[in-house]
Amino acid sequence: MSKVHHSIAFAFVFLVSSCSGMEKTNTTSYQEDISNIQPQAWPSQQSPLTVNREHEKKIAALLNAMTVEEKVGQIIQADINSVTPNEVREYYLGAVLNGGNSAPENNNRASAEKWLALADKFWLASTDKSDGRVGIPLLWGSDAVHGHNNIVGATIFPHNIGLGAANDPLLMAKIGKVTATEMRVTGLDWTFAPTLAVARNSRWGRTYESFSEDPAIVASYAEPLVSGIQGKVNTDQFLNSHHIISTAKHFIGDGGTLNGQDQGDNVDDQITMRDVHGAGYPPAIQAGVQVIMASFNSWHGIKMHGHKTMLTDVLVDQMGFDGFVVGDWNGHGQVEGCTNVSCANAFNAGLDMFMAPDSWKQLYQNTLEQVKSGEITLARLDQAVARILRVKLRAGLFDAGLPSSRPLAGNYKLLGSESHRAVAREAVRKSLVLLKNNRQLIPLSPNQRILVAGTAADNIGQASGGWTLSWQGTGNANSDFPNGQSILAAIKEAVTDSQGTVDYHPEGEFEVRPDVAIVVFGEQPYAEFQGDRPHVDFTDNTGLEVLKKFKALNIPTVSIFISGRPLWVNPEINASDAFIAAWLPGSEGGGIADVIMRNEQEKIEHDFVGRLSFSWPKSADQEVLNAEGADYDPLFALGYGLSVTDNVNVEQLNETQVATLSDYHISNFLLSGAAVSPWRLVLSDAKGRSQYLQGTSSSAGGNISVESADYLAQEDSIIVNWLGQGRFLIEGEPVDLERQSNGDMAIQIDYRVLSANLQRASIKLGCENQCKSPLDVTKTLQEKAGDGWQQGFIKLSCFADIGADMKNIKVPFELEVIGSASIQLNKIKVVANQGQASCQL
Ligand code: BGC
Ligand code: BGC
Repeated sequence: MSKVHHSIAFAFVFLVSSCSGMEKTNTTSYQEDISNIQPQAWPSQQSPLTVNREHEKKIAALLNAMTVEEKVGQIIQADINSVTPNEVREYYLGAVLNGGNSAPENNNRASAEKWLALADKFWLASTDKSDGRVGIPLLWGSDAVHGHNNIVGATIFPHNIGLGAANDPLLMAKIGKVTATEMRVTGLDWTFAPTLAVARNSRWGRTYESFSEDPAIVASYAEPLVSGIQGKVNTDQFLNSHHIISTAKHFIGDGGTLNGQDQGDNVDDQITMRDVHGAGYPPAIQAGVQVIMASFNSWHGIKMHGHKTMLTDVLVDQMGFDGFVVGDWNGHGQVEGCTNVSCANAFNAGLDMFMAPDSWKQLYQNTLEQVKSGEITLARLDQAVARILRVKLRAGLFDAGLPSSRPLAGNYKLLGSESHRAVAREAVRKSLVLLKNNRQLIPLSPNQRILVAGTAADNIGQASGGWTLSWQGTGNANSDFPNGQSILAAIKEAVTDSQGTVDYHPEGEFEVRPDVAIVVFGEQPYAEFQGDRPHVDFTDNTGLEVLKKFKALNIPTVSIFISGRPLWVNPEINASDAFIAAWLPGSEGGGIADVIMRNEQEKIEHDFVGRLSFSWPKSADQEVLNAEGADYDPLFALGYGLSVTDNVNVEQLNETQVATLSDYHISNFLLSGAAVSPWRLVLSDAKGRSQYLQGTSSSAGGNISVESADYLAQEDSIIVNWLGQGRFLIEGEPVDLERQSNGDMAIQIDYRVLSANLQRASIKLGCENQCKSPLDVTKTLQEKAGDGWQQGFIKLSCFADIGADMKNIKVPFELEVIGSASIQLNKIKVVANQGQASCQL
């Protein structure tokens, strides 16, 4: 039984807020607010770095020698899946990145050797000085947001939400250092971390990337992390060969958008923006952070990527930031008047480097023209290039040589090395928050019969969450973490020298009655907007069912809850004797065993020191729950957390479910041959439209009919038959898929062509009649006829390119056929593009 009350009225509210003009409702306050931003009200600081005359001389000489083409190339960053080393050379690109799904040879599991080899290739291309070119070494940026998390075998640290609970700034410095070291091993020089978001609404899918709802915790972490990654400013450690460049992100207001919508609008006032969302930036700048990433979100309707007051007047002039501002993934394309391939506005507002993953080539051409036409002045171009060169000089890039020749490079045994893993294990230990420990059940004796249950117990991928090997963190097996240890493996290890035993059964079945059961369960991995939720109810009941089974048998239970945010789990807490918020601990399950178990001599080696850095909700609609709020009424307050010595009994909690916004499915449209509510299947021909519900039915004019059919299970697919011209549509209330099409997402279609005598077949998305041209799939369907089941992927951005209004998608899928055809469908959904999608089916 689902805990969510599906209410049409609430669903409607959520829809309205999520799909339409929320960001545009405020034209007047927008004007007021902009004129109200007083840069002098922001912290007045100076860069901790003094002018380096040598560097400035070199910058001047380079600017003098560079052509306009070379300068424009310098301000553009392309994604390694969309650019070749040769193109880096040809277009003089200043930087590349690997997005969450991008990797050498398009393989997320590529070996560390491959990463380093590719770094060499890009570096060689960028430094080529033939034809009189200047040859400036490029930067390679990567989201090493919880360790060097794109690399198989690297140490995976807890995500920031767990680190916030550890409340240990010194530990942050160690984590930064380890991450920098492992990046250096693979030849990369720049991480897009730390995230300094102060998440204020737990509906936000990136809540776990935030250390805390409390700006003080975020502020206290900024300096140690940046210093750990870059080395302490004004010492000989700073940006030396054992450190890398750090990025503070996302500037500014990412954690405070309306409804927690990723990339949404922040409508806070200036004081809140400064003191809450901005809290981490002054200390990061004081630590000498070299890059700041502009945020996707807007502030009172103005996208940060085009926000001159904030990017220039506040950040640079007032707060003394003297590195460069990088954009986020095509974030410039969301600025008013811009597209992914053209945006002088953002550049003129203070964005120094465009992150233009797949759009770089046309952006390069357009930016070049804008410089030539004067829309972008040479002075502004020189300013941005100078900032980028300055960072490169500070990082020693001009003298560093081939990536593989640098210190630490190729030292693969450092990836996931024992000492690195020890730091991660310490971080896990310190990040765990003990929410309940009735009758002081924890720490457990290793000298007893322990049953471990729950599907998350032996799943390092789930424990690591998003941004782990793949963007969404999905599809990872334990074998992808050769140096990691699952929670189950760690518990087993903890009893090896004792009299006890550990059995594992995911559903909690057993032959011999255990003395105690440990149930590990929680959220599945997600990243960015894919993690946005309508409420903070934990709706997956599989853990609860296992817990209840033990409860009924009077077996004491310990819950280990894996999650990227605080969630309403009162029923689960009630069914547990002890309950631990473990967040997203990463690859070192040992940190969990360290605190839940006594040692062989029954001694306590480690106590729980984690304290909530996010308030824990009392009901599922408490998504905005921040300590200083007016009606603050949490279940567990900010700072809460038990020690094993605390003799506190958590009484039975209220399990009454409150009405919450229902989950409107914007990722799943057709599953197992059935429309996912509230989507409808519609058959349409010249005579009219009708809805398909089940069984067999046809359109008004009979040109198209649908019948249910078996694929892997009974009636888990439908067969759509055409005779003449007809449209098969999936329809609902308009949803906003703009973020999905900006991120690298695709429509997945699981289908089989039984026959296809076509004149024409085309797929459309959402555009009613305004699409310039729908995607023609005639040839594909003809070719696949009789070929069995296919999995097709079409990039969402292809539909945007042909004019679909991605903000208002009423029809996420339409297949129009002229001719006769028979096509079986099992699944139509939105997924992250893992490199398979194109603009063809
Ligand atoms: C995210 C950033 C990330 C970038 C590169 C964006 O979508 O918002 O946090 O650094 O992609 O992967
Ligand atoms: C990339 C991420 C990026 C996201 C943008 C994904 O395809 O892998 O790095 O953050 O798109 O939303």
